[in-house]
Amino acid sequence: MKNEEKRAPDWWRTSTVYQVYPKSFKDTTGRGSGDIRGLTEKLDYIKGLGIDIVWLQPVYVSPQNDNGYDVADYYNIDPAYGTMEDFEQLVQELKKRNMHLMIDIVVNHSSTEHPWFKEAKSSRDNPYRDYYIWKDPAEDGGPPNNWQSKFGGSAWQYDEGTKQYYLTLYDKTQADLNWENEKVRQEVIDLLTFWADKGVSGFRMDVINLISKDPAFPNDDGSVPPGDGRKFYTDGPRVHEYIKELNEKVFRPYHLVTVGEMSSTTLEHCIRYSNPKENEFSMTFSFHHLKVDYPNGQKWELKPYDFEELKQVLSDWQVGMQQGGGWNALFWNNHDQPRALSRFTNDSEYRNESAKLLATTLHGLQGTPYVYQGEEIGMPDPKWNDISEFRDVESRNMYNILQQKGKTPEEAAHIVSVRSRDNSRLPMMWDDSDQAGFTTGTPWIKIDERYPFINAKVQVEDPDSIYHHYRKLIEYRKKIPVLTDGKYVRLDEGHKQIYAYARINASETLVVVSNFSQEEARFDFPKNFTEKIPEDGSAKLLIGNTEDQPELSPIMKLPPYGSYMWLMKTTH
Ligand code: NOJ
Repeated sequence: MKNEEKRAPDWWRTSTVYQVYPKSFKDTTGRGSGDIRGLTEKLDYIKGLGIDIVWLQPVYVSPQNDNGYDVADYYNIDPAYGTMEDFEQLVQELKKRNMHLMIDIVVNHSSTEHPWFKEAKSSRDNPYRDYYIWKDPAEDGGPPNNWQSKFGGSAWQYDEGTKQYYLTLYDKTQADLNWENEKVRQEVIDLLTFWADKGVSGFRMDVINLISKDPAFPNDDGSVPPGDGRKFYTDGPRVHEYIKELNEKVFRPYHLVTVGEMSSTTLEHCIRYSNPKENEFSMTFSFHHLKVDYPNGQKWELKPYDFEELKQVLSDWQVGMQQGGGWNALFWNNHDQPRALSRFTNDSEYRNESAKLLATTLHGLQGTPYVYQGEEIGMPDPKWNDISEFRDVESRNMYNILQQKGKTPEEAAHIVSVRSRDNSRLPMMWDDSDQAGFTTGTPWIKIDERYPFINAKVQVEDPDSIYHHYRKLIEYRKKIPVLTDGKYVRLDEGHKQIYAYARINASETLVVVSNFSQEEARFDFPKNFTEKIPEDGSAKLLIGNTEDQPELSPIMKLPPYGSYMWLMKTTH
């Protein structure tokens, strides 16, 4: 049965999404890893933030080599997360609270444990062979081309049995599906329909812009960094056609909200993916703002982040998507990124101010904000003591590869500790009880030792907390139209400490000014904006992160990590 609810087609434009990494959210069994019931138990907490969409990451049957992004059965729940009844109950409990469920769809690849792959591997003429991408070895017997896996090493794996290589852009147990094959596309439509019929309201589509590969599979000559082959399969030749088909067959008839995760994409493509006229997705995730600390685009090398580049990337995407009619998914954090709090600000002395600054800065932008579990309570990256503490397949691979490339074990461990995705995968800290209230057993990954004072209970009880700061911002987005429709104008003109911008519509102007440094900063609004600032002090401070309530004025002094949002009438 199709979802016939009467909602505006773009109702999600004033929503905020809460991202749940179930393995680290809440364990109800004592097994040490989170489950679906744990999420259901915590829905009131999420609702309390004002959230109306919950994105649940993969809970399908999976060998868990990439924590569920390696799906072995798209139609069933992995027992580690619970049962289909648990899932159905979650859907019901969300509905009761007027909330929506967005689930994760991983169809660029499947697990090699999936029956399709087992069939495909069994012989070259098996009917499922063409569900995946197989190639003969190169003349020297090596891989068919020089494409690299995102998790390190060649993107090709050799199969002794059938003497061919299969493509695997991630872990070697994640085989890329062959979207050129119409049957594969039909399988995807079928599984999306199955979940839409279960009552989910949306999909987050994993690395969906990688599904169309250059059919020639050329070698990468390295002329465009990082030279690992991505230019031949990113935003590939038939990607828009494939997505339009999903939209027509499933997204539109079921009125779904959809977000495409776009790896190494471009603004031009994201406009096409997310402009409603194109009938593809509701919105897109792009990652350029989270690469401003990658020297030459290399994730596994370190440099301090480039503040100007960060502001420029955010601004380019604000302006570009606005002009092209696209829609951004706004985020600082997810399960693949170290915590922004530790990366871009000060997570110790100024943790409270920094967390609020990041929130205000992001939630003033145009798009649909995403809050990743723990962000709303100011969870920082943990302190890593030993490489054995890491669980993530990418981190473990890279620790070895970095040493093969000449780093000492200490250097490799340091890089991994800064970059590891495990930084954001530590269990949610609920209270000051044992194991932070996450589990009664032994957690699958360590708990941050700061849980006695960084936890959800403390945050919910304190009206001035980071949690309540997020709650206010989420509420503003629902109530203040300029947050949704206001034109974005950057105001800081290359200031070394300050990021400042305005959002302007015909009646209201919103101003956000944030000091991203631990020194006091002076900020002079540009001349042509100064005249818009009312002299009678009528600009209203909507939210700030210090005890004083600074008035909006042409020249401002901001304390370390000070960050404020004002609302005023638009003057013409
Ligand atoms: C992106 C997901 O967010 C990440 O966690 C996963 O490892 C890759 N896609 C592969 O599915």
